[in-house]
Amino acid sequence: MIQFDIITIFPELIEHYANESILKRAQEKKLIQIKAHDLRDFTIGKHKQVDDRPFGGGPGMILMVEPIAKAINKIKSKPSTRSGYKSRVIMLTPAGKTFDQKMGKRLAKYDQLILLSGRYEGFDARIDKLVDEKISIGNYVLAGGELPAMIVTEVVARHIPSVVGHKDALAEETFGPSPDYVEYPQYTRPENYKGQKVPEILLSGNHKKISEWRQKMAKIRKI
Ligand code: ADE
Repeated sequence: MIQFDIITIFPELIEHYANESILKRAQEKKLIQIKAHDLRDFTIGKHKQVDDRPFGGGPGMILMVEPIAKAINKIKSKPSTRSGYKSRVIMLTPAGKTFDQKMGKRLAKYDQLILLSGRYEGFDARIDKLVDEKISIGNYVLAGGELPAMIVTEVVARHIPSVVGHKDALAEETFGPSPDYVEYPQYTRPENYKGQKVPEILLSGNHKKISEWRQKMAKIRKI
């Protein structure tokens, strides 16, 4: 069981996605748990302020350190509760290390991932001391870290045994064997679609030949 704790000012965005399809089933099977925490619940004043203007001037608003520190402290499971319990705090930011399948596999070894989703122009730099690593999902800037947090959650969850239905599915899919591996082409009915036919070998029932064909057709990605 791995627990994903996502800190955000839009908990509903997380809940909608987490409560459908594969993530929903994984939670029902108690393989994972996903909790969205509203950052406004950890604010001090009655205005529930989470952001403020940058010192020195400049555009936009910056997420304040105090609510985030309070949220992380509250959510982090105390090491004393269970020996060997491994928790990791991750900030989602375009300035982080680019996420990939291998990172997803590494993070699947933790018991708890606390994912910090920002909005606005960024985080107060003092928040750096509260996080273990920073992850970007790609070289572009989104309005917030919610989609990145869900992407990390789904990729990590798919590495937990039994989350993906068939036990071989994860190993054989794209990126499974290596970062350059792209899965072989697959077909289902109809056998003939407007003149495009399914390769005959796949209809032959010869499993050895099918397996060889698939190995040959799996590509090394060229970009
Ligand atoms: N927040 C905004 N853009 C992001 C990105 N590309 N990756 C992670 N977090 C982000």
